[in-house]
Amino acid sequence: MTDSSPRDTVRQNTVEQNTVEQAPVKRDILVTSALPYANGSIHLGHMVEYVQTDIWVRFQRMRGHNAVWVWADDAHGTPIMLRAQKLGIEPQALIDDMKAEHESDFLDFQLSFDNFHTTHSDENRECVELIYSRLKEAGHIVSRTIEQLYDPQADMFLPDRFVRGKCPNCSAEEQYGDNCENCSSTYDATDLIDPVSVVSGASPIKKDSEQFFFKLDNFESMLREWTRGDQLQPEISNKLQEWFDGGLKDWDISRNKPYWGFEIPDAPGKYFYVWLDAPIGYMGSHKNLLKGDNSEFDKYWNPDSSAELVHFIGKDIAYFHTLFWPAVLDGAGFRKPTAVYCHGFLTVDGAKMSKSRGTFIKARTYLDHLQPDYLRYYYAAKLNNKVEDIDLNLEDFVARVNSDLVGKVVNIASRCAGFISSRFDGKLASALPDNDLFESSVAAGDSIADAYENREYSRAIREIIAQADKANQFIAEHAPWTLIKEDGRQQEVHEICSLGIVLFRNLVIYLKPVLPAIAEQTEEFLNTPNLQWTDSKTALYGHAINKFKPMIKRIESEKIEAIVAASKEDLDAEAALSAGGEAANGELANDPISEEIDYEQFAKVDLRVATIVAAEHVKGADKLLQLTLDLGGERRNVFAGIKSAYEPEQLVGRQTVMVANLKPRKMRFGLSEGMVLAAGPGGSELFVLSPDQGANAGMRVK
Ligand code: 2FM
Ligand code: ZN
Repeated sequence: MTDSSPRDTVRQNTVEQNTVEQAPVKRDILVTSALPYANGSIHLGHMVEYVQTDIWVRFQRMRGHNAVWVWADDAHGTPIMLRAQKLGIEPQALIDDMKAEHESDFLDFQLSFDNFHTTHSDENRECVELIYSRLKEAGHIVSRTIEQLYDPQADMFLPDRFVRGKCPNCSAEEQYGDNCENCSSTYDATDLIDPVSVVSGASPIKKDSEQFFFKLDNFESMLREWTRGDQLQPEISNKLQEWFDGGLKDWDISRNKPYWGFEIPDAPGKYFYVWLDAPIGYMGSHKNLLKGDNSEFDKYWNPDSSAELVHFIGKDIAYFHTLFWPAVLDGAGFRKPTAVYCHGFLTVDGAKMSKSRGTFIKARTYLDHLQPDYLRYYYAAKLNNKVEDIDLNLEDFVARVNSDLVGKVVNIASRCAGFISSRFDGKLASALPDNDLFESSVAAGDSIADAYENREYSRAIREIIAQADKANQFIAEHAPWTLIKEDGRQQEVHEICSLGIVLFRNLVIYLKPVLPAIAEQTEEFLNTPNLQWTDSKTALYGHAINKFKPMIKRIESEKIEAIVAASKEDLDAEAALSAGGEAANGELANDPISEEIDYEQFAKVDLRVATIVAAEHVKGADKLLQLTLDLGGERRNVFAGIKSAYEPEQLVGRQTVMVANLKPRKMRFGLSEGMVLAAGPGGSELFVLSPDQGANAGMRVK
């Protein structure tokens, strides 16, 4: 290679040919993800959808479109009411705490949403009431009297989750009134065999109750027409056909008090069912984002809107989003969704996530050990546009990320950047040695963009990694580390390494929707802020770059072991808490009293006064403290889930009460030989019980 003019020709062609481009149409796209329930932590199963949404939204923005992502916590319904009762707090306090926790998980996972609101909001109430009144006015709501279960002792109608009995389908005991955890069938609470009220323990009676129904069958022809377009994946369209064939039934959108939600106007004691106000929460969140800009709101929601409305959801809630939701929108005079994209579920190591195996991994547990880009990459490499489950194989996760991101992508920069800094004053060459390679990298962008647009992320990743392979091959063939030792070949080395950097930049542009943190570090390294999709068409010449620092490190398999161990510990802490703390005490502050036991059963529990003679942190445990308890001579080792509320030194010397005859439980950290008693909702509000002064270690509690 010599310093001759053809390279200049290359440069001019590259730049000029690609600047002649038609201005693309700018799309307005309102995007949503399904709303997580506000009664539990976010786990890696949830993250599949949120990462899928985020990649799509980031991609659209990089293409110059106006993609707005709004969502919220799904804050209503009986499970939330029950959980708050169990914790002895108000539902409002529970949903506030959960919202803060969820939002911080999402931000730390680098999700680029525009608004994360709550369905328990003024904006949502306004939208729900408007929609309901319009539906009613248009004759889509009917009231009907139906039989429901009623607790004669507590004098109240029983929500589905307040009644338990045998499953009418498989006879499994202790099932709730809406669906069976054993056989997954759904049914009406009135179908339960031998139902029992969880409020009073009484046998409920059937009593007439007026409810409000949405007449879904009024929308059959509209829905049949709507589903013929390309709004839905073929798997979902087929499913819809089955639902049409089975007949569209009226939908009960009301619930009797007690219920945590919005009361229905002019119907005291009746509440909107959570599944009516949840999708309307998309609108409520959008309204909240727009802060009273009604014309912008209407631009997206009016019936002839040219903006797109795109929902990302899991396959389990397709019924709600492809039948009820478009029908509710249409009946209330709003636009229908442009697309409803369903994904499958997540398995970990080929099986359902399991608490005991440590594969039920919370988002926060993951973030405590690894940066989000790794998992975002792995999910992207697995996701396609079908309704298929994806598997997070933990061994493959480590191997794939290390091989692709560290071994292939970042490796290009680390092989080339050193020479640029040390030999060429930190500046790229003014020409490239192999225009075909650069052109092929540019050309790949169209197909990769097409893959992102169609949510074929695994194809996008395959094509990007194929480009990385080409770049690595080029560098290996030209071996700049050998050339640099030869006289007179400096210029070649400069150009080879510069091309390497330019190819690396294109890879990062293509990966930017997936890897925001790595993209940001690359933008700093290359002095090219805010990279957009079309930037891949322009090479860099004579451009000053910064000193290279690796954007990503290999994942050590110990990190995975730590995540699995911490997830098991979540379970240990729950067990420690429920056996030794909450279940025996204030968890039940406002909860129905547990099932009656007789004196003989109670007498079997040997409660003893114990002195805490030592208390220590447990290495690798986030929630447990290790206590040594003296029972008046005998010593016991107990792991207690009270670390969130106590420093070990606060406990040493104190007396407490323990269950002394609890079967020892093998934990990851050792054998736990009993349980201490504590009260409170959890977190910092957890109170270890103590006897009055005068009690001695070993005394039996009677
Ligand atoms: O299934 C769920 O987790 C629901 N909370 C999803 C609601 S999505 C939308 F309809 F609000
Ligand atoms: Zn069953």
